[in-house]
Amino acid sequence: MPVRRIIIAITGATGAIYGVRLLQVLREIPGIELHLMVSDAGVLNLHQELGMGRKEVEALAHVVHHIRDVGAAIASGSFQSDGMIIAPCSMKTLAAVAHGLSDNLISRAADVVLKERRRLILMVRETPFNLAHLRNMTAVTEMGGIIFPPLPGFYHRPQSITEMVDHTVGRVLDLFAIPHTLTPRWNGMKQDD
Ligand SMILES: Cc1cc2nc3c(=O)[nH]c(=O)nc-3n(C[C@H](O)[C@H](O)[C@H](O)COP(=O)(O)O)c2cc1C
Repeated sequence: MPVRRIIIAITGATGAIYGVRLLQVLREIPGIELHLMVSDAGVLNLHQELGMGRKEVEALAHVVHHIRDVGAAIASGSFQSDGMIIAPCSMKTLAAVAHGLSDNLISRAADVVLKERRRLILMVRETPFNLAHLRNMTAVTEMGGIIFPPLPGFYHRPQSITEMVDHTVGRVLDLFAIPHTLTPRWNGMKQDD
């Protein structure tokens, strides 16, 4: 079976759970090789929000890259991947991607994914947005990236945070055409009895 490679980056926006849940779900799917980077602020939030340390999260990936290692395989377009998900994506990393900064391996790998016309998903998180945030999201969209703020839906009547997170994670997997059963599919309005 050919290996599908997916690059995941966890940055310092709130919502570290999205990155962790993506790793947990994807590692159970055969034939997927997970490449992971965690920014310094991402490590802070993993600890603050989930009580998880860097090593524990890195153990969920097949390959771990340090964000200063700009010589890593994923820094080159010749490294074949299906694409990259930044989950969650801070406004700082959004800005770096929007402006092609490539100032660390996260923004460089995203830059490469964009130039190779592969899937790039930014699970941006901030509220409210200022004009710089909005312009940066527009710029990434114009370059072919997908701005995917993790905004929960309520129409499926979630009973827990896990259900809300899984609903969003499932929609991200849909964008990579990865089959999953994380959430029921919407089949139209149901009549209440
Ligand atoms: C607890 C905590 C929550 C944060 N939440 C957000 C957030 O939701 N969105 C955001 O853009 N930055 C947030 N930040 C700020 C970023 O972590 C900060 O801008 C950092 O420089 C981002 O760097 P990185 O993109 O390299 O991870 C938060 C910081 C902390 C400590």
